[in-house]
Amino acid sequence: MERCFSKFAQFYDEFMLKLVDYKNWVGYVISIWNFFNLKPKVVLDLACGTGIPSIILLKKGYQIIGVDKSKEMLEVFKRKIESYPDLKNKVIIIESDITNFNLDTQVDACVSFYDSINYLLKEEDLEKCFSLVYKFLKEKGIFSFDMNTIFVLENFWANNKFVRESKNIKTIWENQFDKKLKISTLYLKCYPKNKQEFFTEIHQERGYEYKTIIKILKKVGFKKIKIFQHLTFLPAKKDSLRVMFVALK
Ligand SMILES: C[S@@+](CC[C@H](N)C(=O)[O-])C[C@H]1O[C@@H](n2cnc3c(N)ncnc32)[C@H](O)[C@@H]1O
Repeated sequence: MERCFSKFAQFYDEFMLKLVDYKNWVGYVISIWNFFNLKPKVVLDLACGTGIPSIILLKKGYQIIGVDKSKEMLEVFKRKIESYPDLKNKVIIIESDITNFNLDTQVDACVSFYDSINYLLKEEDLEKCFSLVYKFLKEKGIFSFDMNTIFVLENFWANNKFVRESKNIKTIWENQFDKKLKISTLYLKCYPKNKQEFFTEIHQERGYEYKTIIKILKKVGFKKIKIFQHLTFLPAKKDSLRVMFVALK
């Protein structure tokens, strides 16, 4: 069994770009900044991975600091950045856990995309992460992140099996949901189409009650908090599949 986002990292982009409209998602985050009349320049991308959203933001003129703990995901990010010489000096990439990172500067906004915060399995880890975000945000800074809901993990991921394929890899996604812990464990079985051997990565995501996230955001100091149904400005519902949290310093 491999660590999550280790061997799969080299296939991540071809896979996710088929599943997710990242341009639209980044556009949504920018519209949230506009909604709150904010014009950030320096943006922290928490759990930036291979940098798909970071690069879209860089191309739009934002400066990016990307933090992620997966060396393999960051290698892909760094390789891609090499092909954009004009963007290279606008990005800082840091290999670190998002519960324990350090920055030399404060940022105007912090973003996190695509379930990354669900990978924090303990409330105390959420608190460590959110308090660092709070510390490194400037006054009136904005923090936005999406989460998979308990509802989607319990009813859609559930104990289901999905087969997904892209150009260079075939995958089987086998989920197990622990109702008590609200943790979904995914066995991601990967069959590369080249000569590389079969491997399995184990991924775990925890669903949290909205009130738990609000409690922790408030505890670390955030004043105003909104929860939207993903890609909208409508209030989140109990049966939303994915929600967007927005917290203002
Ligand atoms: C689903 S990927 C999302 C990557 C990127 N944000 C995107 O939208 O493509 C989740 C990312 O979270 C990172 N991650 C999970 N837990 C982490 C932690 N505790 N510290 C740092 N990175 C973490 C993984 O390494 C992975 O790159």
